[in-house]
Amino acid sequence: MFFFNKKKPILKDLIPDNHIDFHSHLLFGLDDGAKTFEDTLALVKAMQGFGIKEMITTPHVMNHVWNNTHDIITSKRDEVNTLFKQHGVDFTIKAAAEYLMDDYFLTLIHTEPLLVLKDNYVLVEMSYINAPLQLYDIIFELQVAGYKPVLAHPERYNFLHNKFEEYSRLKNAGCLFQINMLSTVGYYGEFVARAAEQLLKKGMIDFASSDIHHEKHVASFDGKVLFKDIKPLEEAIANTLFFKE
Ligand SMILES: [Fe+2]
Repeated sequence: MFFFNKKKPILKDLIPDNHIDFHSHLLFGLDDGAKTFEDTLALVKAMQGFGIKEMITTPHVMNHVWNNTHDIITSKRDEVNTLFKQHGVDFTIKAAAEYLMDDYFLTLIHTEPLLVLKDNYVLVEMSYINAPLQLYDIIFELQVAGYKPVLAHPERYNFLHNKFEEYSRLKNAGCLFQINMLSTVGYYGEFVARAAEQLLKKGMIDFASSDIHHEKHVASFDGKVLFKDIKPLEEAIANTLFFKE
């Protein structure tokens, strides 16, 4: 009699089988995600256990903090795939990047091919403290160069919570929005969960991904989704299949 069952769903139960995830930090030693190959392997296995069978992992590209380049990321991806084979793991990981939108990124747009999620889709993020002054110039330049920006975790930018119209401005400027699934269980706190719920309710979220860095993130997929209406979340999860090959 599930009709009467008003229990909140467990996040990991909302992930369909053979799903894809396009935001995570699984390549060991490149950023604040996996530190060793064992970490990489444990995170990949945990994600597979949730039903995620394709992963486009996205190391940070953040000048002076995580100095990852196109070549560093693709070499590490190849190294990890070789290690998978050597360990008898039948899995191939893909890699793109999570680019911080700053002056350095503005230069990068014109100097090297960006790592894309698929076709011309590029995952971008902002600082959690404030937006860059040249935010809309960056978004414009990125599109002039032929890319489509996918803004990572819009719900996590606290400085936007009290000016919701800014979210509309970002969407109108051409950004697609990717929610972090863990925002829905309150992992990043109440305000982020509330912003996530509002964005979903307004139909502004295009995709959902894990942004998994470590074991604590994995464990939090056992959390309950806090929202009354989970339909927009389910739709965002389903839309994410767009990135599957
Ligand atoms: Fe991330």
